[in-house]
Amino acid sequence: MTVLVTGGMGYIGSHTCLELLNSGYDVVSVDNLCNSSPVSLERVQALTGKKLRSYIGDVRDEALLRRIFSENDIGCVIHFAGLKAVGESVRKPWEYYDNNLNSTLVLTKVMREVGVKRIIFSSSATVYTSDNEMPLKETSRTGGCTNPYGWTKYMTEQILSGISHADGDWSVTLLRYFNPIGAHESGQIGEDPRGIPNNLMPYITQVAVGRRDHLSVFGDDYPTPDGTCIRDYIHVVDLAKGHVAAVEYTVGHKGTEVFNLGTGKGSSVLEMVNTFMEATGVNIPYEITGRRAGDLPECYADPAKSLEILGWRAEKTLADMCRDSWNWQSKNPMGYNG
Ligand code: NAD
Ligand code: UFG
Repeated sequence: MTVLVTGGMGYIGSHTCLELLNSGYDVVSVDNLCNSSPVSLERVQALTGKKLRSYIGDVRDEALLRRIFSENDIGCVIHFAGLKAVGESVRKPWEYYDNNLNSTLVLTKVMREVGVKRIIFSSSATVYTSDNEMPLKETSRTGGCTNPYGWTKYMTEQILSGISHADGDWSVTLLRYFNPIGAHESGQIGEDPRGIPNNLMPYITQVAVGRRDHLSVFGDDYPTPDGTCIRDYIHVVDLAKGHVAAVEYTVGHKGTEVFNLGTGKGSSVLEMVNTFMEATGVNIPYEITGRRAGDLPECYADPAKSLEILGWRAEKTLADMCRDSWNWQSKNPMGYNG
């Protein structure tokens, strides 16, 4: 079967293309390169020894999408394409609503026309409200987002479930990711953020490689054992394998289903820094600074439903995530550009 991967050149998309190819799927990618490099998929093909078909263009381009569906026999779509920086979304709400919502609307419009009614969507733990108890279950409360990015994830979940509610032939799988980090063990593909990283792991690896002089730890006065925030970090290869399981599920079912993709284990910022130093032997100078606006003290998944229904569970440890992130960053100090 052929899977169309939107945003296939990005961080999670490229790892997922690799796992799909290794599982015997044919893969077609479409990406507008707004946050990625074509080198990622060249390396995926070298690593797997398999070819995929790649279109450079925007998912909001209806004519392009019609061409992609007419030139390929697509059986299922994984929709990664979107903008993802929380802070930027506050400054550029229109761009976020336009990109993230219109890409989904145009994609599903063309899917409906051509009769392809299976879609897997990259949602986020950010759709859960801040007043839930941990761990978060798929039935925990959602909404009340604090930024446009979060709203686009929430609204896209509504759009897709509304479509499948209206037409029972659709199969919609909403995957809520927790905190993806790490890289393929080869060190050939990984996360390559533009500018100053917003997220913890890419910041740590850039300090490790000498691109930044120290890490700022945003607050040590949270109600957690060491005072720093707790997150559910998940290895991107485990996450990618979760998508392969989701394709199998989506093809065999109809209606809407939502799954958490997390490990179920929370780790604090200081645990992450210490594990990174132990796993890699590289020192990470850090300084405790004030809290970052909008951060929750803790956020971690209950992944039981994914195990029960998808038969998937995360297998890699925090040390694996640190070692693989460092392997990628040290082999590619300037990401795909050097
Ligand atoms: P990424 O930026 O590396 O990948 C997104 C890809 O989509 C990029 O290659 C970008 O060039 C492409 N793209 C963006 N808009 C497009 C458009 N209109 N048309 C065509 N291509 C377009 O991000 P990622 O970390 O791989 O995330 C993938 C998806 O997962 C995103 O939807 C993101 O919101 C979601 N997600 C990510 C995280 C995370 O922490 N990385 C967490 C939860 C959810
Ligand atoms: N942190 C630091 N220093 C840094 C960067 C981060 O101390 O330089 C801390 C943060 O304060 C937080 C933890 O590290 O406590 C993790 O921060 P990230 O930015 O890596 O991850 P978040 O959990 O804040 O954000 C992630 C995704 C968002 C998504 C959100 C909620 O990046 O897209 O989870 O699901 F919206």
